[in-house]
Amino acid sequence: MVPVRILAIESSCDETAAAVCVDGKILSNEIATQAVHAKFGGVVPELASRAHLQHIVPVVELALQKATVSIDTIDAIAYTQSPGLIGSLLVGGQFAKSLALSLGKPLIAVHHMQAHVLANLIEHPTMAFPFLCLTVSGGHTQLVKCESPTHMEVIGETIDDAAGEAFDKSAKLLGLPYPGGPLIDRYAKTGRADRFVFPEPQIANLDFSFSGLKTSILYFLQNAGKSHAYHPELIATPQEQRAFIDANLADLCASIQQRIVSILLHKLKKAVVMTGIKNIALAGGVSANSGLRNGIQQMAAQYHYHSTIPSLAYCTDNAAMIAITGYYKYLDKQFASLDLRSTAKATW
Ligand code: KG4
Ligand code: ZN
Repeated sequence: MVPVRILAIESSCDETAAAVCVDGKILSNEIATQAVHAKFGGVVPELASRAHLQHIVPVVELALQKATVSIDTIDAIAYTQSPGLIGSLLVGGQFAKSLALSLGKPLIAVHHMQAHVLANLIEHPTMAFPFLCLTVSGGHTQLVKCESPTHMEVIGETIDDAAGEAFDKSAKLLGLPYPGGPLIDRYAKTGRADRFVFPEPQIANLDFSFSGLKTSILYFLQNAGKSHAYHPELIATPQEQRAFIDANLADLCASIQQRIVSILLHKLKKAVVMTGIKNIALAGGVSANSGLRNGIQQMAAQYHYHSTIPSLAYCTDNAAMIAITGYYKYLDKQFASLDLRSTAKATW
């Protein structure tokens, strides 16, 4: 059989990434992270688009070079069509389409969240279907039932903030820089998770909610740890709040992380019970969190589930996950229009 070579491009947010995969095996996975946003405390869409324009050609060239694959031997170009920042998506999308047109190769449009799920197949190509995937990123929190690489269904999702936002917004309240998720993870390692107890939302179905947690942390810090409820008479001065945070940072991070992880894993367990599917997986940037990774493994051992977790490089945004998704869509002959006017909208 002739090998299938896919060149993939990811540009949905603030990472410009390119990867090459041959027959589902990742040969290169390059990424240019945009440092320009750090001083703004979050991603600035306009700056992200401009940085993608600067990075996209060198990143694609590097991915081809590292894979030792020549551009004319590529069978298809895969790219992130949506969801994401519209300007960022347009840069990657127009680049991918122009390349496909000039090479006379097919184009494959990839849904970013489907790609996060399929990142699990990069290192576990024989993974059993169906499986349930807890997909947790900066913009999404979903429970996905996966029947095959190209058939999946969202059976639960957040009704407000995403898990990554819960980490990042909590970190902001603690005065930590963006993105705060990895910092909470780091400080939590030396903290006591049972020191502060934050509430768990009671949502009946498989949906998630994180906005209440953020508010309870806000009130708790405003009262310098005296109460979770809003008590105007308890409001501490900014100096008192800072002193409280500094004295308790590791325990605060461990307690916040523990609550976010328990909200996620309780819903995953509920989904297993409801569907009877005991193959479980993690995906998305938040699956880099050590508390969540340990937690899912402990849960799998306790209840005899089978768990799969991608390596850290395949958890946060990357082009290898777009390449593997492109590969399965190529096998399924799911090609996209080369019309340069088409919009940034993808289907699973
Ligand atoms: O999937 P991703 O790279 O980008 C999106 O598609 O959103 O996810 C980014 C999110 C951010 O909110 C970031 O804080 C979070 O993933 N994140 C983490 C960790 N590493 C990344 N959150 C908690 N612990 C981590 N170790
Ligand atoms: Zn993502």
